[in-house]
Amino acid sequence: MNYPIIEHDVLVIGAGGAGLRAAIEASAQGASVGVITKSLLGKAHTVMAEGGMAAAMGNVDDRDNWRVHFADTMRGGYYLNNWRMVEHHAKEAPERVRELEAWGAVFDRTKDGRILQRNFGGHRYPRLAHVGDRTGLELIRTLQDHGVHRGMDVHMEHTVVTLLMDSGRVAGAVAYDRERGRFKVFHAKAVVIATGGLGRAFKITSNSWEYTGDGYSLAYQAGAALQDMEFIQFHPTGMVWPPSVKGILVTEGVRGEGGILLNNEGRRFMFDDIPENYRNQTATDAEEGWRYTQGDKSAKRPPELLTRDHVARCIMREVKAGRGSPHGGVFLNIAWIKEKLPNAADHIKRKLPSMYHQFKQLANLDITEVPMEVGPTTHYTMGGIRVDGDSQMSTVPGLFAAGEAAAGLHGANRLGGNSLSDLVVFGKRAGEHAAGFAKEHGATTIDEAAVDAAVTAALAPFERGASGENPYAVQHDLQDLMQSHVGIVRQEGEMREALDKLGGLRARAAKAGISGNREYNNGWHTALDLHNLLTVSQAIATAAVERKESRGAHFREDYPSKSDEFSTFNFVIQKGADGEMTLTRVPITPLPAEISQVIEEHK
Ligand code: FUM
Repeated sequence: MNYPIIEHDVLVIGAGGAGLRAAIEASAQGASVGVITKSLLGKAHTVMAEGGMAAAMGNVDDRDNWRVHFADTMRGGYYLNNWRMVEHHAKEAPERVRELEAWGAVFDRTKDGRILQRNFGGHRYPRLAHVGDRTGLELIRTLQDHGVHRGMDVHMEHTVVTLLMDSGRVAGAVAYDRERGRFKVFHAKAVVIATGGLGRAFKITSNSWEYTGDGYSLAYQAGAALQDMEFIQFHPTGMVWPPSVKGILVTEGVRGEGGILLNNEGRRFMFDDIPENYRNQTATDAEEGWRYTQGDKSAKRPPELLTRDHVARCIMREVKAGRGSPHGGVFLNIAWIKEKLPNAADHIKRKLPSMYHQFKQLANLDITEVPMEVGPTTHYTMGGIRVDGDSQMSTVPGLFAAGEAAAGLHGANRLGGNSLSDLVVFGKRAGEHAAGFAKEHGATTIDEAAVDAAVTAALAPFERGASGENPYAVQHDLQDLMQSHVGIVRQEGEMREALDKLGGLRARAAKAGISGNREYNNGWHTALDLHNLLTVSQAIATAAVERKESRGAHFREDYPSKSDEFSTFNFVIQKGADGEMTLTRVPITPLPAEISQVIEEHK
């Protein structure tokens, strides 16, 4: 072959929190490790988990423990979660936080010097260890430093076009470097997919350009099963103005620190949507909510801290009813805490420094003085590659997945803050088991014909030249379609239409052509991303049509209630023998009695 062959025991695709933690662990187990990242090291969606990392350390409220965290996560996921993963996560997250601290992460502190924890939606107690509103950034910085010293080869700005297989087992990957467009073969005994999500399949998203569903699509093409793809999280608060920054995340930490949501009548509309005993927006309720965010254990939780699926839908309702803000969102007000704290502006800048700068620089607005305008933004994929709850191995031998690329932990809806802990708990597990697999299994052989076929397919847009379909136009139309037809509020007719139109977009993508050469050719990169975007969009729409109920992040206008019929299985998607996408119902493993007991205890 005319391509360089790079050998590793374990190849990690993706260098966000999960990928780096997997690489660190595999390396600690003695494996030689290569990490491929589509972007620059340190640039990952992990940084968009701003408000904190959930771990039941009990530093702020000593009633917290793994059992409560377990029950909250299962309830938040509407019991479609892989309970084994939820158990590992709740038990191991505190240790992973302490480990990060030992590796140099500088968390905010309580007055008596312990790691400070803040409130977030759906978590019963203040549970999010945080670094202001830059927690994900600190996590990446720490793992990057630690990983580089532990030893790993990092291949930056490389994009994987296919996984290589040998007798049903994964054998590596073919990638190109984005700078020069040269192809390389990565030969490995085990592969960990940690490529994050697919936000770029939608028009409004907190995800940056890298998140085109690559990992799901690569795994699917290699024969792995995907699970729960219908569950896409729309974070309630993204920026809505100015247009160039629409979708950028406004951390839930703003609400955790006392921020309130208001419609254009100045009303806290979240009070409309909660049980009777919370319903009246009395001064007492508002006062209770504030006291709750300030750590008063006896006060009532403010309704702004309900789970994300719920808050996002309430915002949509206000906008639809004409009670929204001028630019199609609602108001998020943290400035009001001036009534409570003499030094509120300094307090906000200290607790939410990124939000302060983000709004000042991007919207010319001072959040210590005036409310922000916010609206839902596509943020996270609960579904993903189906994995074993202990080892993180997919249904393909030797192929592992961790973080947002893997399904199971979050069920139908993720609680904020559970993603950073997910990355490190399951990144570690995936790295450990991938290294173990590499040790126990012999070398694989590279399928040269498969390499040639992948390279030929990847270069096809050049053959078609500038007279082919414009890849940007196809991407734009796909994002519009997914946003309008498979977005926050769904219904059968629109989703079926989306599935039809995806067929048309696939035909256009197959004709995508580009001009120029291979060096930093963004049009070419976009043409190649289309294949992944179309695969994941089809998977989302296929599962969403079949789930004829509303549950968690999946809301159907035509089936607005939860149905018992859909509570005992996950939808699993696979590539059939004929190459078509197939959907099956796979029963959820029943909870053992001692685990059911935990849920009972905390109902
Ligand atoms: O709102 C946030 O800070 C996001 C956190 C998360 O997605 O976990």
